[in-house]
Amino acid sequence: MQQGKFITFEGIDGAGKTTQIDALEHWLEKQGIEVVRTREPGGTPLGEKIRAMLLADDMSVTAETLLFFASRAEHIERVVVPALERGAWVLSDRFTDATYAYQVGGKNYDPAKVEALESLVQGALQPFKTVLFDLSPDIAAQRLAKARAADRFEAESREFFRRVREAYLDRAQRCARRFFILDASLEPQAITDALLQEAQSWI
Ligand SMILES: Nc1ncnc2c1ncn2[C@@H]1O[C@H](COP(=O)(O)OP(=O)(O)OP(=O)(O)O)[C@@H](O)[C@H]1O
Ligand SMILES: [Mg+2]
Repeated sequence: MQQGKFITFEGIDGAGKTTQIDALEHWLEKQGIEVVRTREPGGTPLGEKIRAMLLADDMSVTAETLLFFASRAEHIERVVVPALERGAWVLSDRFTDATYAYQVGGKNYDPAKVEALESLVQGALQPFKTVLFDLSPDIAAQRLAKARAADRFEAESREFFRRVREAYLDRAQRCARRFFILDASLEPQAITDALLQEAQSWI
C-alpha cells in the first residue's frame, strides 16, 4: 500500500526545475513531511552510471530509450516504491513524460514502443502529480548559456526543443488531471509562490 506521494518535475533543459524543486523540498520538510529527492536518469548507483553513458555517448534512439527505462526500473524498485511505502514524498527531477517528450516528440520514436516499456517497467505506478515548467527554448538557451556547458541533450537544436516542448504540452493535455503547468518565464519567486500554493492542495 502506498502512503506517500510521487511528484515528478518536467520541462526542457534550463526551464528552472532544479531551482524550484529546492524550494518545494524545503517547504515540505517544514510541514514535517519526509522528502526523498531524486532524479532521472539516475537516482541509484547503477542509474547514475547509465546517466553518464546517456549524456556522453552517441547511440541509437532504441538503445537510448532502453537505457532510460533500465535506469527507471532500478529507480522505481530501489528508491521510489520503498519511499512511498514508508510514507515519504518522492520528488523526481524527470520521469516517463520526459521519454515521451524527448524520444517521441524530439526524436520521432514510436510512442507505442514507449507505452509498452512504460507498462513493463511501471505496471500501474504513475506520478500523483507532474509539474511542467513550460518555457520557450529561446529563453531556456539564454539561461543555460550563462549557467554551464551543454551535455549531449542540451546541445540539441532550438527546433528539437520546440518539439520537446510541444510534446510535453500534448502529454499535459492527455493527462490533464495529473499535470500542473507553470509559466517558467516568470521570476523565480513568482514561480515558487504558484508552486507552493498548488502544493498545499496535495497534502
Ligand atoms: N525563473 C527564472 N528566471 C530566470 N532564471 C532562472 C529562473 N529559474 C532558474 N533560472 C536560472 O536558469 C538556469 C537553469 O535553471 P535550473 O538549473 O533550475 O533549470 P533546470 O530545469 O533544472 O535545468 P536542467 O533540466 O538542465 O537541469 C540557472 O542558471 C538558474 O539560476
Ligand atoms: Mg536541473
